[in-house]
Amino acid sequence: MDTSTSPSTQTTATSDEVTGTANRSTTPSSTAFQDYIGSQWADRDDQLPPARAAAAFARRRRDRVSARFPGTRLVVKAGSLAVRSNDCDFPFRAHSAFSHLTGWGSDSEPDSVLVFEPTASGHDTTLYFRERADRSSSEFYANPAIGEFWIGPRPSLAQVASDLDIATAHIDEFAPTDDDVTLEDSELASFLSELRLVKDEYEITELQSAVHATQRGFDDVIADFPRIIREPRGERAVEGVFYTRARLDGNAVGYDTIAAAGPHACRLHWTRNDGPVVPGDLMLMDAGVELDSLYTADITRTLPVNGTFSPVQRRVYEAVREAADAAFAIVRPGIIFRDVHAEAMRVIAEKTAEWGLLPVSAEESLRPENQFHRRYMVHGTSHHLGLDVHDCAQARREMYHDGEVSEGMVFTIEPGLYFQPDDLTVPEELRGIGVRIEDDILVTSDGAVNLSAAIPRTADEVEAWIARQTAN
Ligand code: GLY
Ligand code: MN
Ligand code: MN
Repeated sequence: MDTSTSPSTQTTATSDEVTGTANRSTTPSSTAFQDYIGSQWADRDDQLPPARAAAAFARRRRDRVSARFPGTRLVVKAGSLAVRSNDCDFPFRAHSAFSHLTGWGSDSEPDSVLVFEPTASGHDTTLYFRERADRSSSEFYANPAIGEFWIGPRPSLAQVASDLDIATAHIDEFAPTDDDVTLEDSELASFLSELRLVKDEYEITELQSAVHATQRGFDDVIADFPRIIREPRGERAVEGVFYTRARLDGNAVGYDTIAAAGPHACRLHWTRNDGPVVPGDLMLMDAGVELDSLYTADITRTLPVNGTFSPVQRRVYEAVREAADAAFAIVRPGIIFRDVHAEAMRVIAEKTAEWGLLPVSAEESLRPENQFHRRYMVHGTSHHLGLDVHDCAQARREMYHDGEVSEGMVFTIEPGLYFQPDDLTVPEELRGIGVRIEDDILVTSDGAVNLSAAIPRTADEVEAWIARQTAN
């Protein structure tokens, strides 16, 4: 669709000069037209929505930020639309710290700003955003980026105030100062990341629901295997079926789906997804549904395309599962986060030593100066999960990798074994086999629950799952 507008229209954010569309503008520029299109509209529905569920939780998070930075003016920006090409933008996605502190998810307005203004007793917080323009403004019909004629209804200040239970003001009233502390400041960025390490009740409910929605996507992909194997780019079909289920359910995806069939499974972040899905091979699928709240799941299953693991595929698969189970078994409050990885690596070293792949014993390989088994699993075992698939990324090492595990944390356990097709250290029968099993784990008061336990995990369960989904 051509989004060019008239050079004479005064838009607030995007002009033809900015978008580079003056050369093809067709919008009438006469005052008569502007007066006409700006009049004779029915009153807007100005009903105030009740506060959404996230609002009370976001308020508590803001209170903790206020207590940590007394006397400091904090400015947390949502971010802006990112250009995809020329005048086409990527869909807007607010900064996760902004979303966490406002409760505003996929419906956040670009360029919004949350300000903590210091007061004698704490801070006043105000959410600034560009309220929809009046219909007499050319923004309404001539601004493809934010005009309601183009992108649909946008909220009023009062509606957002009610929805998020927060004070709101027009973005034109926002004035930055030299003393503002922003997300560029590492102390604030780290604090806001660390604030997300322990999930509250709302976040846990959202994450569990994202995992359930992801399970439906995996179910659909397997049910479509008979069709997928006929497509020359079956991996694209896998990605498409997963995405279709997410959209049918009204959701999005939290990251680009990895649909890695056969030897592509050995490429850890394979998102090109342009290969075939061949019976006899494994298909490694790493995918997660993201909800309106922006919380995402992150699940991997490795599936035999013809429904049955070969003996060697099963051996590798069950070794990875043992590593995942061993790591899960130690999770409880008080352990150190990196212990989870160490436990998975113990199993990976033992298995690869047992199969004669290592130049030394498992024990020797596990020494920091050796680590030969890591040739077959170069990635880490766990990362925090939440609003971002790799959540809490600005947390300090002592709070993350070297930090203590606490009740309410949610992280992945995702060991794997990847035998590259051209790896001369492994026998031919292993070359080109890649397996990862990834689950989303919630730490409880005395242990952990696997939020994705209902998605089949053992080799036997996976085979039964495929048989069920592809029956008839
Ligand atoms: N989906 C990316 C990861 O598992 O970390
Ligand atoms: Mn992951
Ligand atoms: Mn993943």
